[in-house]
Amino acid sequence: MNRQKRQILVSSALPYANGPLHLGHMLEYVQTDIWVRFQKLRGNDCVFVCASDAHGTPIMLTAEKEGITPEELIDRVAESNRRDYADFHIEMDNFHSTHSEENRELVESIYANLVENGHITRKTIHQAFDEQRNMFLPDRYVRGNCPRCGANEQYGDSCEVCGATYSPSELVNPISVVSGNPPVKKESEHLFFRLADFATMLREWIHSGQLHASIVNKLDEWFEAGLRDWDISRDAPYFGFEIPGEDRKYFYVWLDAPVGYMSSFLQYCRNEGVDFDSYWRPGGSTELYHFVGKDIIYFHALFWPAVLHGAGYRIPTAILAHGFLAVNGAKMSKSRGTFITARTYLEHLDPEHLRYYFAGKLGPGIDDLDLNLEDFRQRVNSDVVGKLVNIASRCAGFVLRTGDGKLAAEIPDPDLFARFAEASEAIADAYEKREYSRAIRKIMALADEANRFIDENKPWVLAKEDGNEQKIQAICTQGLNHFRQLCIYLKPVLPELVGNAEEFLQSGELNWDDLQKPQLGSAINPFKPLARRIETADIEKMLQASREELAPSANH
Ligand code: 2FM
Ligand code: ZN
Repeated sequence: MNRQKRQILVSSALPYANGPLHLGHMLEYVQTDIWVRFQKLRGNDCVFVCASDAHGTPIMLTAEKEGITPEELIDRVAESNRRDYADFHIEMDNFHSTHSEENRELVESIYANLVENGHITRKTIHQAFDEQRNMFLPDRYVRGNCPRCGANEQYGDSCEVCGATYSPSELVNPISVVSGNPPVKKESEHLFFRLADFATMLREWIHSGQLHASIVNKLDEWFEAGLRDWDISRDAPYFGFEIPGEDRKYFYVWLDAPVGYMSSFLQYCRNEGVDFDSYWRPGGSTELYHFVGKDIIYFHALFWPAVLHGAGYRIPTAILAHGFLAVNGAKMSKSRGTFITARTYLEHLDPEHLRYYFAGKLGPGIDDLDLNLEDFRQRVNSDVVGKLVNIASRCAGFVLRTGDGKLAAEIPDPDLFARFAEASEAIADAYEKREYSRAIRKIMALADEANRFIDENKPWVLAKEDGNEQKIQAICTQGLNHFRQLCIYLKPVLPELVGNAEEFLQSGELNWDDLQKPQLGSAINPFKPLARRIETADIEKMLQASREELAPSANH
């Protein structure tokens, strides 16, 4: 195949370094990982980076509460993240941290460029201040009664009861979450990034055709509301990087977080000898994509491109956003047991089953996705076990008995094989556009055809009479070759199952181009079950364990 080899850099959003990953995080990693694996399978150069989002007040306070340093907290959480990634088969090329020298180097130089280019301005603001702790309070660290509906215990930025948004100074009877005392108002000079300087560039980018319509709509609304200056500084005490030339001021975590994409990649480049600038300077032919949740589109589709552009870097090719994860039709809830951490899931169920289910429901837009656990059980049992693996288990025994463990030299229906191969462009197109549910529907329609082929040719009936050995071997060789094609199509989604299938078929590492040519005449290994059914009891146990777990509060 002579496709032009693309050079692509991809990221998932950086996880906060103060709590365990849950299935909401896994939705994004799975979406990204499938896309990256698909690109690699097609022969493209695709690098997947991520990092711990290590700075900010919550991390500082969590570490303090636990009596450890922020560095210890970050390391511990990063370690547990890495284990979760490995066990879910999320294959990142590099996982670094925003609390790193590479990140400091880049943040400082980006900031210096922004200052030099006139995009930073100073303003004095008033903020809630905790006199006992001697610290300014982020909005979420002030609670009180909602100024609109009067509800108790509402955060400083919005009311969960009536949905009102406001500033902490409007709360009635405000209290600092850190000390329990009423905060005072205090002024401080902050540094602001002049987002409106980039209006023309952003408007062009938004309408360049690269972004999904659902994102363009949101961005247009924000644009209409006006691009306001963005406060990029925080006063000490703060866990982050100090701003050079300022007195006890730190970069706001949301300024250095996306720079973490670059710095993780910079570390990768230094380790692998890759040219950093060819990915990050304007005018090159490389592609850059950030997968994010819909709650952080503003940061990624407005601030981030503007910061990059203002500092002399290229802007992303696109921001790829997804919706939130619900479980059994509702927001994840600790009391219902549906706030499920990645680890608790892994203790009871197979990671590839979740990957398959997510793929079957994922599209390119920002619609929320529901993990309905009964539907999950039925879908995986019917598709992965009942359709896909069934093809191999129906054919393997016959090939081992009648063909002496070898595939036949020819298949009886080459047209059918060709039809399976011809689906490759449509399936590739669906993966490329992140229409995974469309890809899965097409693949499963082929799995139905493969099963029908076996049903119609009935090797088990032929096996009742002597003399049919060659015929049986040929039919089952065809069946196994369809299984092999389906495995290639599903390799981005089910890397482990397909790895085991490659071993069973002794096919070597399968890639996209192997779809076109059948595997003939070679030996195969005895068949071992490639997937296990999901039992209702496993799901029940997982929910029970989640209920019992005193999960530390999540960050979003
Ligand atoms: O929302 C979050 O979980 C953030 N930690 C994501 C940061 S993404 C990037 F900007 F670093
Ligand atoms: Zn309210």
